[in-house]
Amino acid sequence: MCGIVGYVGRREAAPILVDRLDDLSYRGYDSAGVAVAHDGVVVVEKCPGKIENLRAAVGKATPPGTLGLGHTRWATHGAPTQVNAHPHADCTGRLFVVQNGIIENFPTLKRELLERGHEFSTETDTEVVIHLLEEYYDGDLLAAAKKTAARLEGSFALAFLAAGEERLVAVRYHAPLIVGIGGGENFVASDITALLQDTNKVYVLENGDVVSVEANRIDVDSFLPDPPKALGTRQLTIVDWRPEDVSKNDYPHYMLKEIHEQPRALERTLQGRIKDGEIVLREMGLASELIRRVNSFHLVACGTAYHAALFGKYLFERVLRVPVSADIASEFRYRDPIVDGRSLVILISQSGETADTIGSLEEARARGAKTLAVVNVRGSTLAREADAVLYTRAGPEIAVASTKAFTAQLTAMFLLVCYLADRRRMEWPYPREELLAHLASLPSYLEQTLEQTAATAREWGQLIANEADCYFLGRNVDEPLAREAALKLKEISYVHAEAYAAGELKHGTIALIAEGTPVVSFMTQAEVWDKMISNLHEVRARGARTFAVAREDGIGLEDLVEGVMTLPAAPELFAPILAAVPAQLLAYEAAVALGRDVDQPRNLAKSVTVE
Ligand code: G6P
Repeated sequence: MCGIVGYVGRREAAPILVDRLDDLSYRGYDSAGVAVAHDGVVVVEKCPGKIENLRAAVGKATPPGTLGLGHTRWATHGAPTQVNAHPHADCTGRLFVVQNGIIENFPTLKRELLERGHEFSTETDTEVVIHLLEEYYDGDLLAAAKKTAARLEGSFALAFLAAGEERLVAVRYHAPLIVGIGGGENFVASDITALLQDTNKVYVLENGDVVSVEANRIDVDSFLPDPPKALGTRQLTIVDWRPEDVSKNDYPHYMLKEIHEQPRALERTLQGRIKDGEIVLREMGLASELIRRVNSFHLVACGTAYHAALFGKYLFERVLRVPVSADIASEFRYRDPIVDGRSLVILISQSGETADTIGSLEEARARGAKTLAVVNVRGSTLAREADAVLYTRAGPEIAVASTKAFTAQLTAMFLLVCYLADRRRMEWPYPREELLAHLASLPSYLEQTLEQTAATAREWGQLIANEADCYFLGRNVDEPLAREAALKLKEISYVHAEAYAAGELKHGTIALIAEGTPVVSFMTQAEVWDKMISNLHEVRARGARTFAVAREDGIGLEDLVEGVMTLPAAPELFAPILAAVPAQLLAYEAAVALGRDVDQPRNLAKSVTVE
């Protein structure tokens, strides 16, 4: 989704803005632009396509000003053209804006502004913002921004500059925005990854905040008559990510780097959380009495995080013996969910900024439910808004396709279910000490999985790259894994893929299995082993080329499949976490074989901050 950066300080703004936009490019974009102020004049450069186009244009044309705005646009209203790229200017060419979000009442505002004689040159919803600012501007950018924001409906983060004013003004309303604090220079950005090279000190803005950012001064105001938090309470957050965490090192793609970072990521997820036979999640802050009172659990998320939620549902029901629902956030929030004061709604998200997941949190809260955010990014909206938070600590994830954040979410599901079971005084259905020892060993199991599966994943990936379709099957906890494998393959290789609960295949989709169709089965669960074997027979009988991912003791597959990837001998409950690795590698190899843009696949955004 769109990315915003702003700089005011002592250095030349244009190269900093372009570099920071590059750092934000992982969010997904299709055009980019900057505006730089110098001697009372503002110069704008914008280009469709890659940041490199912008870099070349900026190199030639932009003045050495020390104040500027930058933007990566992921098109919603209007095609990704140069004209529609941000920043947008008012009629006088002296006021500029960049936006992330959607202005829902833009048609009404546009009519009003056209009647008042404003001239529009783009198809975007954002352009109304700058003409509205023009209406209110009388030399005080902060005051005009407040009046402008108060007229807007939707969710938005905005940054403005005005020729002749030595400051940026930024607004946050249901879209992420932070202010970074440097020495004699300050920044505005959509997220922290854009600022890691410059500072680890940030203010996370609240909804309604309007900030004036100068080189040595920051003033916070609000455009809401009743701000959600008192203005004096913005806390300086010190970020513990390092610049090297967001570099590719020697890997050809971020995705491959992040796949290989999983053992280390899980080490961090588990660090300090298993002590003397207990799960310690003190920082989460959920009272035991509340945990005991809960009579329904609801897991809510989008995309890959939703697959972690589905896995969580199996696990929670198995251990807690209460009804657990797993929902796609965009469905949960609009389906009149049955939650109340005795429900715990668990929102799972890498970024903590996904619009529908935040909407679900608000919906749950409005119905009196307690909310727990399982998130990766510290200080993100979900982390701040939920009643309690469990950080997955996977470190920054840059590739659009989520990998280490996913296995960290699955691991967090284990920590959480064991923690809840203890508070609810439940017997664990597995020998406690053994389970905890294996949980602590997950990083080394993952290490072994990477070693054991990388070569075969390359072979399979190259083979699947030549096919039009691919099917993934699984049952029980392997079913969410099959879904995740299909999603990974689709999103980065564009090969059509579908996942099925293996037993459901016969109810329609088996009609699509033809001679040579690849079918990959996840077979890590003994309880459904025989059923999976039958399903393999069924698809083979229709000409499918069959492959399996199984545990080391998954013998007996030789005559049924063309290839098997075996996982280390961890308890079968953990096998789906390990099986995620070959699923990711397979998608990666297929995408590489097809020459795809692995880290920034077409049409996708890392963080979906609009509905
Ligand atoms: C986008 C990303 C996915 C991610 C999903 C949910 O679609 O491309 O990789 O799983 O959003 O994001 P979240 O940050 O809430 O986990």
